[in-house]
Amino acid sequence: MESAEKEEISVEDEAVDKSIFKDCSKIAFYRRQKQLLSKKSTYQALLDSVTIGKDSARFQIINEPAKVPLLAEVCGIEGNIFRLKINEEIPLKPRYEVPDVLTSKLTTVRLTSCPGDTGSLVLASGKGDLKCHIMANPFKVDLVSEEEVVMSINSLGQLYFEQLQIPPKQRTTKKNEEDASTDTTQENQEELGLWEEKFENFVDVKVNGPASIGLDFSLHGFEHLYGIPQHAESHQLKNTSDGDAYRLYNLDVYGYKIHDKMGIYGSVPYLLAHKLGRTLGIFWLNASETLVEIKTEPAVKYTLTQMGPVAAKQKVGSRTDVHWMSESGIIDVFLLTGPTPSDVFKQYSYLTGTQAMPPLFSLGYHQCRWNYEDEQDVKAVDAGFDEHNIPYDVMWLDIEHTEGKRYFTWDKKRFPNPKRMQDLLRSKKRKLVVISDPHIKIDPNYSVYAKAKEQGFFVRNHEGGDFEGVCWPGLSSYLDFTNPKVREWYSSLFTFSVYQGSTDILYIWNDMNEPSVFKGPEQTMQKNAIHHGNWEHRELHNIYGFYQQMATTEGLIQRSKGKERPFVLTRSFFAGSQKYGAVWTGDNTAEWSYLKISIPMLLTLSVTGISFCGADVGGFIGDPEAELLVRWYQAGAYQPFFRGHATMKTKRREPWLFGEEHTRLIREAVRERYTLLPYWYSLFYSAHVASQPVMRPLWVEFPNELETFSVEDEYMLGSALLVHPVTEPKATVVDVFLPGSSEIWYDSKTFAHWKGACTVKIPVTLDSIPVFQRGGSVVPVKTTIGRSTGCMTDSPYGLRVALSTKLC
Ligand code: NOJ
Repeated sequence: MESAEKEEISVEDEAVDKSIFKDCSKIAFYRRQKQLLSKKSTYQALLDSVTIGKDSARFQIINEPAKVPLLAEVCGIEGNIFRLKINEEIPLKPRYEVPDVLTSKLTTVRLTSCPGDTGSLVLASGKGDLKCHIMANPFKVDLVSEEEVVMSINSLGQLYFEQLQIPPKQRTTKKNEEDASTDTTQENQEELGLWEEKFENFVDVKVNGPASIGLDFSLHGFEHLYGIPQHAESHQLKNTSDGDAYRLYNLDVYGYKIHDKMGIYGSVPYLLAHKLGRTLGIFWLNASETLVEIKTEPAVKYTLTQMGPVAAKQKVGSRTDVHWMSESGIIDVFLLTGPTPSDVFKQYSYLTGTQAMPPLFSLGYHQCRWNYEDEQDVKAVDAGFDEHNIPYDVMWLDIEHTEGKRYFTWDKKRFPNPKRMQDLLRSKKRKLVVISDPHIKIDPNYSVYAKAKEQGFFVRNHEGGDFEGVCWPGLSSYLDFTNPKVREWYSSLFTFSVYQGSTDILYIWNDMNEPSVFKGPEQTMQKNAIHHGNWEHRELHNIYGFYQQMATTEGLIQRSKGKERPFVLTRSFFAGSQKYGAVWTGDNTAEWSYLKISIPMLLTLSVTGISFCGADVGGFIGDPEAELLVRWYQAGAYQPFFRGHATMKTKRREPWLFGEEHTRLIREAVRERYTLLPYWYSLFYSAHVASQPVMRPLWVEFPNELETFSVEDEYMLGSALLVHPVTEPKATVVDVFLPGSSEIWYDSKTFAHWKGACTVKIPVTLDSIPVFQRGGSVVPVKTTIGRSTGCMTDSPYGLRVALSTKLC
């Protein structure tokens, strides 16, 4: 690419400019829900209309201003899950229902109707210890488990459903004219953004008009909620009453701000709530832009009665209200009833699948940079690891390895012989990962472009032509991965004979797949672009990246005729992406605060099914000082996906460039990672077969200990190791909380031990990584380290046995 052109599209130069992204006040469906919900008009369930079939119970719900009823459907799903769907009974045209996320094997459980009060319907699932009480007027659902109401739905009356309408211009009848004239002042039309919405210089014309939905959930007795990635925020969800809601809208946010609720690269519309004795999950299956408000009412221990001066002791339980709002689609929500965290993990993976089992090499260390310049550079960096006795498994090539950002090609000058380069890596049992983005350079001489164009495989603009937007290669079109035929074709591009220069040690990195469109609204695709099946982009924006990773993964499986386990890293993701590989947290910054926030960000991904996750070690943007880099390697060595990466303009930072002492410290950290490989591999196996996250917040392992519920500066790896990375500069001591009054914990280096349920001050030097093994656990390790995981097949195993309180 010409440098002038490059200059022009290098929008990723500065840290985040938040003004190019919307806050809630700039989102029309949010304003509408706020405005119209304030004019309360409650829904009523028409319980005379109930039909109970083999798979579900159905009934109508109606409110005054709505002209036609909605249809509600309640299903019981195996494993103590309820599903509630609300849609228009007969919409003007079908509304989008998210396909391809749910595993196909869902088994429904027959619901039985039990006697209830008049004006209510009680549905029991399975043996009857789980019940749905449906109240008719106002419409409300209580989820009852063992006689305790654990959750109420629509108890705040925030059910909101915009029914599809005929566009004002096509309305001919007098009655419709009257409808159209409601709220027609120019100002109000703009404010409501029904058929058109402006943001900066962009106008979003909505052919289908307003289609927003919303619903509230009250979680009784719960104050601790987690989930709904991705935000650069704390693990425990915060109260949103004083600010913006959590936004789920996949966006390319370079150098994202931390402690912010703006949407970044991926979305999992799923949250967990935890209290002593019970964990619940709410999975809101919707792929359009979504906002989540959280409001916690803490427990009030004593309230005064109005009866007089005597204080009556009355315990008022705490409660958290969760309000989901989406731009379009239908209400399709799964209620996961636990009761334990482990049950909720199983319930969620029953719906969306478990973590793909990673190939062993991908649990080693990955070395990336934008960019390793050429074959010579790759050779030198590879040799550097051997010279300094630092194991590593995977060399990564960013966009500059291609011919002008044409994916599936090689820059002939820099990489004249990609097979020779891969042979070098193969000789050390190492691998190569290259990048493949979803934008395809508009160039009729580029075969990927020409073939996709010919077959109509690109997303279209609302006028019917191919959508065109600017990304790394300049003007590009975007593959429509929502189309199964496009996915099938894209998968076939990874066949060795088609992908020239690729070999069986080459794996893939999908980036920019929110999708990122430079100069687009909020740097993404216009919402009125058109996908397969004539669906607008707004309906499925959050699932676009999911589909690219799905197709890539399938391609790697097929190229090996089903023999190999694929490795694909993606930046954008949705619920269920765990089935296809790994996720990382995008363009972080080389600052201590970003090292610190990597822990809660990864914990959040982990509890929402995505165990294989990591953050760029060292921080992608900027130059870390040696101390920060060392601390980041020490933390990264204990995080699931372990990759060093840096952006273009940063100084080189291979582990041996910071003096001997720092090289030694990084070597130690990386080698400790390789020592623990059998443990990592076993943890991933347990994630794959038994749905248990690899990296676990303390509350997951100690669900009955209140003190653990807000901890996010340390975590468990499996159930045996507690890790407390040092994330402060010049630290001399860290406060480590060791949970569990009946536990005993051993410092994994010194073997000093402490009884649990206390905070201990652990002195640290730059050498220390505070890691503790739980008494009563056995951790499998490798006792000799090779230069890559492949070189360690024959190295001996060891067991680190920590005696429990009963034995020591
Ligand atoms: C953005 C990604 O987040 C980053 O990791 C990558 O290096 C650049 N795109 C260039 O491909």
